[in-house]
Amino acid sequence: FVPKVLANRRVLITAGPTFEAMDPVRGITNLSSGKMGFSIARAAREAGADVTLVAGPVHLPTPRGVRRVDVQSAQEMLAAVEQHAQSASVFIATAAVADWRPATSSSQKIKKDGSGQPPVLGFVENPDILATVARSPHALTGDLFCVGFAAESHDLLAHATAKRARKGVPLLVGNIGPATFGQDDNALLLVDAQGHRELPRASKRTLAHQLVAEIARRLPEQ
Ligand code: C5P
Repeated sequence: FVPKVLANRRVLITAGPTFEAMDPVRGITNLSSGKMGFSIARAAREAGADVTLVAGPVHLPTPRGVRRVDVQSAQEMLAAVEQHAQSASVFIATAAVADWRPATSSSQKIKKDGSGQPPVLGFVENPDILATVARSPHALTGDLFCVGFAAESHDLLAHATAKRARKGVPLLVGNIGPATFGQDDNALLLVDAQGHRELPRASKRTLAHQLVAEIARRLPEQ
């Protein structure tokens, strides 16, 4: 039995990596599995929410009852998020968005030119999806509760506290190491205006339900 703490709420979640193309067959990405975001989507749905999950390229089944939008790049992820953020009351950013994308993407496969010289790739910075949404009027008026994630190798509390301020979100969730990519369990550090607390190591499914409960009790009354 899951308490319906998110009944009548719309929840928007990003998950997985992004893929930034350099040509039709190559690009840069990262090792995010999407498991945490998908677990949260499932838990939010089970808690009664209407859930939209914007997913980068991952190999995971869509949780039952969840609306899924598949994207590749950070720019596509931002566009999909902006389309759904207006009507949402919670935004949870778990995606491992690539910080940079190739400055140009060739429409044809880049070939070796025989000179022995590799191509030189320039990069440009991607939009920060979470910071963009957290500073939108809908969030600033308190109608959209934004949650960020942080994966750090050291000084998690200090980094999570700084990231919470930098992103402009009320709740920042730190992954307590070691690296959690692809793992089925995790431990989380919750940082908000009041301070911090730990959700001890458990399956991502259990943690997702605990996190959903923590988010629900921070929402304004309906
Ligand atoms: O700055 P950093 O990547 O460590 O921040 C992590 C948090 O910000 C995560 O919640 C992630 O989903 C979000 N993020 C984002 N868009 C980016 C970079 C990070 O939404 N371009």
